[in-house]
Amino acid sequence: MSSLKNRIRRLLPIVGLFGLAAVATPVVLGVFGLVTWAEAVLAITVLLLGVAVCGLGMGLRRLRLSVLELSTSVRTQTGQVTELFGQDRLELARSLDGVRAEVKELRDTALPRAVHNITRSGVRSGREDYEQQVAWTELREYLDVAPFMPPLRGWAASPDVLRILVRIIDRDRPELVVECGSGASSVWIGYALRKAGAGRLVAIEHDARYAELSRALVAAHSLADIVEVRHAPLTPVPAELADGVSAEVPWYDTEALTDLKGVGLVFIDGPPAATGPEARYPAVPALLSSCAEGAVFVLDDADRLDERALGDRWLAAHPELTRVEEATEKGAHVFTRTP
Ligand SMILES: C[S@@+](CC[C@H](N)C(=O)[O-])C[C@H]1O[C@@H](n2cnc3c(N)ncnc32)[C@H](O)[C@@H]1O
Repeated sequence: MSSLKNRIRRLLPIVGLFGLAAVATPVVLGVFGLVTWAEAVLAITVLLLGVAVCGLGMGLRRLRLSVLELSTSVRTQTGQVTELFGQDRLELARSLDGVRAEVKELRDTALPRAVHNITRSGVRSGREDYEQQVAWTELREYLDVAPFMPPLRGWAASPDVLRILVRIIDRDRPELVVECGSGASSVWIGYALRKAGAGRLVAIEHDARYAELSRALVAAHSLADIVEVRHAPLTPVPAELADGVSAEVPWYDTEALTDLKGVGLVFIDGPPAATGPEARYPAVPALLSSCAEGAVFVLDDADRLDERALGDRWLAAHPELTRVEEATEKGAHVFTRTP
């Protein structure tokens, strides 16, 4: 289109010259009297009309070309837009397929599995709550405790393991009970010993602050004549008290244990697991020589892999021990020293 314009622009001076000559010719002929002035004017008019018709034709041609160009461009753009929309729709359809597959997986597999798991854990925790409630009620009624007792479960021992301890106290009437890790249970064991009519509890506590709190609890229940809370910070363990995994893990300072004799029951509920792997292992090697014949060790939290493993090591190192696994809330393994 632009080359045509250029060509026309180049031809314009020649066309102008021809036009001028064409207009001048009738005038010159008129001047020399070769044609009349009317014929000269007619010739010029016809000439101008011809020029106007040519101009109109050229204008129409240019208009047609422009329309053609416009329609081509509209067609091209429409094609591009359609193609873009087409791709978008394809991508949308693909992503919708993905969403549909995920919704199907959710509906058919994940959701039923989640509902099943939630229901199962709801049923399990309902049963667990009921069992702990029963054990709590039995303990309260049997031990004739104060109206407001330190709460159990959570960080403290659960009612079901305390019920096991109370039964052993009732059966064996131990002269001395040792507890590793003081707290609410120290009070409950104190009530059990008071009901048994004999025996003392020494509760070993590594944390000075909790030792103080446990002492205050014991005093609030007027059990200080039965329960003694001893602070024994965690220190490196003498080589003979730990082997294998627990060798590098600190345990209660054994200075706090030297005067203990005739221990009939040991409740192992500390040190906390965060102290290190198999942190409770030294309890048996440290206390066995202070124990009476037929002494019993109750290991709480025995559902944990560490506690199971250290129990296995006790049995291997001390053939006089036998183990009974109790299905309590946190798992309780009862080790008895057989004569
Ligand atoms: C597994 S807990 C159990 C303590 C105790 N045998 C009982 O059942 O209540 C072990 C440690 O918890 C810490 N502890 C004691 N009283 C606590 C309390 N009121 N809140 C949080 N932790 C406490 C003590 O350091 C204790 O040695």
